[in-house]
Amino acid sequence: MPQKIPPPAPNHFRQFWEFKPGTVFLNHGSFGACPKVILERQTKLRQEMEAEPVQFLWRRYEERLEPARRALAEFIGADARDVVFVTNATAGVNAVVRSLKLQPGDELLTTSLDYNACRNVLVETARVTGAQLVVAEIPFPLESADEIKTGILQKVSSRTRLVMLDHVTSNSAVIVPVLEIVRELEARGVDTLVDGAHAPGMLPLNLHELRPAYYTANLHKWVCAPKGAAFLYVREDRQAAVQPAVISHGNNRTRPGFTPFQDRFDWAGTFDPTAWLCVPEAIRWLGALLPGGWSELRQRNHELAVRARKILCEQFEVEPPCPNELIGSIAAVQLPQRFQGRASAGKIDEEQLELYDQFGIEVPFNRFGDPERRWLRISAQVYNSAADYEYLAAAIKRL
Ligand SMILES: Cc1ncc(COP(=O)(O)O)c(C=O)c1O
Repeated sequence: MPQKIPPPAPNHFRQFWEFKPGTVFLNHGSFGACPKVILERQTKLRQEMEAEPVQFLWRRYEERLEPARRALAEFIGADARDVVFVTNATAGVNAVVRSLKLQPGDELLTTSLDYNACRNVLVETARVTGAQLVVAEIPFPLESADEIKTGILQKVSSRTRLVMLDHVTSNSAVIVPVLEIVRELEARGVDTLVDGAHAPGMLPLNLHELRPAYYTANLHKWVCAPKGAAFLYVREDRQAAVQPAVISHGNNRTRPGFTPFQDRFDWAGTFDPTAWLCVPEAIRWLGALLPGGWSELRQRNHELAVRARKILCEQFEVEPPCPNELIGSIAAVQLPQRFQGRASAGKIDEEQLELYDQFGIEVPFNRFGDPERRWLRISAQVYNSAADYEYLAAAIKRL
């Protein structure tokens, strides 16, 4: 039984979330965490839905959906006509990739830092169409964002039909310079699907400026909306070909004032749309938490992630794997040498279980790289403090 250490005191903001007392949540990155007021809003919406199911879900559905879409479009710098809600980034990637009309020999390009679930969509699409999956190997640790750009551009060929590009990579937690890369690919006539799963709320977004062919992202992570809130943006000239992962009424039932793209995506069969409808309140509430609004929140989270990474790297006697400016509010830290090389026990590493069971610390452990190394990934949200990471460092020492 590891020796107990006093847990950190909760900061002022933690009271606004539901966290179980005694736990230290350092994994906002995986599924986010929804504040109490937003959950209360969702409960109220659900009560309204159950009070008048048909009115809510069918007759007057668009009257609730459209303001939510407009608030989201403003937040991400897009035209509402180009934006639809989806339930998660995985659904957005599925819709785009599985709608492509590919020929045998066409190439789908991704990177070695991509997200497994989304890579699987490319693998399966390549399998059924005869297309080729091409993986750009990106070094990690890396010294500059140019290594990402160069790695991708080297693999572009005349057969490249789509590049899938993370805006913020998952396990390695690096910000990718998507604006530069999208422009370079555009100049070569290649479309980009940006997987921005972590980006909204972590990084400022302006899709008018970025203008990728496709962009999908989660709102349940760094916008703290309820789970099941995400979006897909498709540039107008690519919309006609994109079908949702789930086809429903919209393919032959149009609604005045909506684009055919919106008709297809706005309804995916009976479901609970309240997570989507909470998005405006999540944007408003989080944006009002600090005097400097969203930009102060993003900056504060980034500064805490930088500080947290420094604390842990010093304690673990490891180097940070990328420059500070390449991290947002998540960061990968290599585990101390004595953890390296231990065999995987299955889905969850034993030390990760022990950290939660003995110390109440929630933090993900990963294995990646060539040669494979073991990493943990910290998140920094407003309810976290530097003391949380000092506690993590102390707990890791006792494992
Ligand atoms: C880069 C990236 N893409 C996609 C996803 C998938 O998100 P979801 O499970 O919400 O679809 C994640 C989740 O962490 C991610 O990090």
